[in-house]
Amino acid sequence: MKKVQVKNWNDFCPQQLFLYGTYREDGTPNFGLFCWFSYLNAPDLNGEGDGMGVMACIGGEKLTKDLIRKNGVFSANLVTEELLPLADYYGIVGGREHKDKLRFSPTIEKGVVLDVPTIAESPVSMELKVFKEISFDNKCDVYLCKIMGETMREDLTNKDVPFIERFKSVKQVLAGGEQHYISTDGRDLGSWGEPMKSL
Ligand SMILES: Cc1cc2nc3c(=O)[nH]c(=O)nc-3n(C[C@H](O)[C@H](O)[C@H](O)COP(=O)(O)O)c2cc1C
Repeated sequence: MKKVQVKNWNDFCPQQLFLYGTYREDGTPNFGLFCWFSYLNAPDLNGEGDGMGVMACIGGEKLTKDLIRKNGVFSANLVTEELLPLADYYGIVGGREHKDKLRFSPTIEKGVVLDVPTIAESPVSMELKVFKEISFDNKCDVYLCKIMGETMREDLTNKDVPFIERFKSVKQVLAGGEQHYISTDGRDLGSWGEPMKSL
């Protein structure tokens, strides 16, 4: 099949969605929705050796960025189909502008290693410590982080069940093309701003 030249079109290279959790100054949690996220090999921070880390890109000024800069830590909670209405809402409604953003809330837990809020309904929660911020002059910032703690739904660790069965049970949501959410088995889960209407 012939290929055609396109410009900056990543629609067929979807990304997993995560809810980043931070604590505000008054100790209440905030969550925002993010997909510009990938993995890296992070350096030794406290003599624990090197290990897996992530890179998280946050564009523009927003509450999540304010709080990551202030606290140096945040959580990344994998988004599932069950969490999608809430996740969509957290991606559309800005925390700076809407102080009551968390009026719709999941079950919030405390991180096992870091002082970060995590989401009980999310099957995978990572606790991240920032070790480097890279800033561009267009207000886009990339945070290089080390995974300091991680919790996972217990049944996902049961290696007696084939990996693909455990994978399918998660029902991750991808930020796919043309501003639509898609399932890992190829279903259209609605356009951005649609799933939140069911809240
Ligand atoms: C599907 C989707 C993916 C998003 N991914 C990102 C992202 O990777 N980086 C980013 O800066 N904002 C992203 N956003 C926008 C933030 O979620 C949005 O700015 C939100 O208000 C952040 O929460 P906060 O204002 O409480 O910090 C995304 C929004 C949607 C709907």
